[in-house]
Amino acid sequence: MTKTAAAKSAKRPYEYYGTPISLVTIRELLPLAERLAKRLCEAVSVDPSELEPILFDMKFFADGELMSRKPIDALVRETRVIYLDCPRFPTLNDGIMNTVLTLDAIAGAGARNITHIPLYLPYARQDKRKPGEPLSWIRVAKMLKHATPRLDRLIALELHTEQHEGAFDELQFNQVRGHRIFAEHFAAAYRHRANEVIVVSPDAGGVERAKKFADKLFPDGHLKVAHTEKERPADNVAEVVSYSGPEDIAGKIVFIYDDMIDTGGTIAGAAALLKKRGAQKVIAVAMHGLFNKTAIADMQRSGVDEIVVSESVPRTPEWLATHAPLVTQVPLDEILAKVILEQRPGGSVSKIFL
Ligand code: R5P
Repeated sequence: MTKTAAAKSAKRPYEYYGTPISLVTIRELLPLAERLAKRLCEAVSVDPSELEPILFDMKFFADGELMSRKPIDALVRETRVIYLDCPRFPTLNDGIMNTVLTLDAIAGAGARNITHIPLYLPYARQDKRKPGEPLSWIRVAKMLKHATPRLDRLIALELHTEQHEGAFDELQFNQVRGHRIFAEHFAAAYRHRANEVIVVSPDAGGVERAKKFADKLFPDGHLKVAHTEKERPADNVAEVVSYSGPEDIAGKIVFIYDDMIDTGGTIAGAAALLKKRGAQKVIAVAMHGLFNKTAIADMQRSGVDEIVVSESVPRTPEWLATHAPLVTQVPLDEILAKVILEQRPGGSVSKIFL
C-alpha cells in the first residue's frame, strides 16, 4: 500500500447514527457536494475532513464508450454511499449511462448500500403508453433502479408528476419539492405583498404544485392559483391558448411556477399572454432549468422579468455571471442536508415539506 492510500484508509470515516457514510459525486457537482458535506459535518460537529467528496470522473474510449475506471477509494468500502449525481453530463444520454456504470462501480468498490440523489431525472415526459411510442420514463427509471442491488434509497427532486414515484417501488424514496426553497428565496421581497401577487401554473396539471408554492410563500394568504393552458402544435413547440384565474391582473406581479424549463416555450407563451392582460412583472420559477435552444432569450423577449431555478442542473460561475441578474440559481445544499439528516431512526422527510 502506498503512503497516501495507507493514510486515507486510516482516516476516520464520517458516521451518522452509527452508519459510516461517504459521499461520491461527479465533477460538475463538486462545489455543491463540498457545501453539502460541510453542512453534514457541522450537523454532527465533526471536522469537514471526515466527509470529503470523492470524485468519480468519466473518461471515454476512442469509440465513444464510457471508460469506467473509477477510483476504488478505501473510504467507500463498507459505507453507505451517498451518490450526488446529475445524469446530464457531458450529454444527457452519456450522463444516464455514466450513472448506471457509476452505481455499479460504487457497489463493486464494496459499498454497503447506496443512496442515489439524481438531481434531475431525464425522460420524464414520455410517460404514457401511446400506440407506437415507448414508455421512456419507466424504461429509464428502471435502468437506474436496477443498476445494482446495493441501491436501496433514492432521493429525487421535483418529479414531473406524482405518479412517477411508482417507478421506484422497492426503494426507499423521498422527493425534494421546490416550494420550500423558492418560498424562502422570495419571502423577504414578497411575503408582505400577497394582494399584489398572482401565482400561475402553466398548465392545469401543475396547479397542485403551484399551490404548494403559493401556500408556503403566503401562509396566511389563501391565494387561489390561476393556470394557463397550452397546446403543442409540433414537437418542442408550446402555444399558450387560454388563461383561467382572476380576471383583473393589471399591475400584478405574476409568478409562473413549473417543474422544468426546457425550450422556455411554455413559460414564454404564458408570460406573453399575462403581460398582454396587463401584468406588471413576470417571474418564472422552476426546479429544473434545462434552458435548451434559445430558451432564455425567448422568455426575456416574451416579457419574463426574472427566472429563478434551483442548481439541479449546475451552471459554472461564468455562466451565472453572464446571465445575471435575469437568471438566479437557488442553492440546494441546505435542503439536501436536511433531507439526508432525516434518514435516521424516527426521522421524517415529509415534515420538511409540509
Ligand atoms: C410540461 O408538462 C412541463 O411541466 C413543462 O411545462 C415543459 O416540459 C416545459 O417545456 P418547454 O420549456 O420546452 O416549454
